[in-house]
Amino acid sequence: MPPCWTLSCEIDLAYPVCEQNDMLRIRVLHGPNLNLLGTREQSIYGTMSLDAMDSAITKLAEELAVKVDLRQSNSESELVTWIQEARTECDGIIINPAAYTHTSVAIRDAIAAVGLPTVEVHLSNIHQREDFRHQSYVAGVPIGQISGFGLTGYLLALRGLQEHRTTSRSQKKTPASATSRRAARGTR
Ligand code: DQA
Repeated sequence: MPPCWTLSCEIDLAYPVCEQNDMLRIRVLHGPNLNLLGTREQSIYGTMSLDAMDSAITKLAEELAVKVDLRQSNSESELVTWIQEARTECDGIIINPAAYTHTSVAIRDAIAAVGLPTVEVHLSNIHQREDFRHQSYVAGVPIGQISGFGLTGYLLALRGLQEHRTTSRSQKKTPASATSRRAARGTR
């Protein structure tokens, strides 16, 4: 396939190929029992279903021009596989590992292995709950953890990841930035 600048010179595309390819792709992973949201322990997790949460995340993603790929699994192995596959398919991960937060070295290692910017989300504030929920095996790897804001946590994570990726991309695209940093420090 020719480079996209060649295409856009020759064909009047409604959506430039470059722009489409440049869209951030974020994988959103929901761990075990989150498929039961809406009916599960409503006093802790509220009454919103997972489908309704996914629709709200998708709506914000559209506004931000981010492509989201939303998945839920009750299986640790499936979550690990999806994290691994994200390495070539996505630019970042938002994950609520649910109960695996407190047990899974495998999920932590998968996130570390792919090296993608990741945000850990919890609907409830895990630090206010039972002692066994205070420890997250995952927390040392992601760029941040959001806990206790319900659906809003996912939306904050999406905005945060988009800003993080946009900033790191624009830094990569500005070769002068290292030079100007050195100039500002007065070093060569
Ligand atoms: C959870 C918190 C976990 O402790 C629990 O096992 C979950 C959901 C949350 O979103 O608050 O299933 O990750």
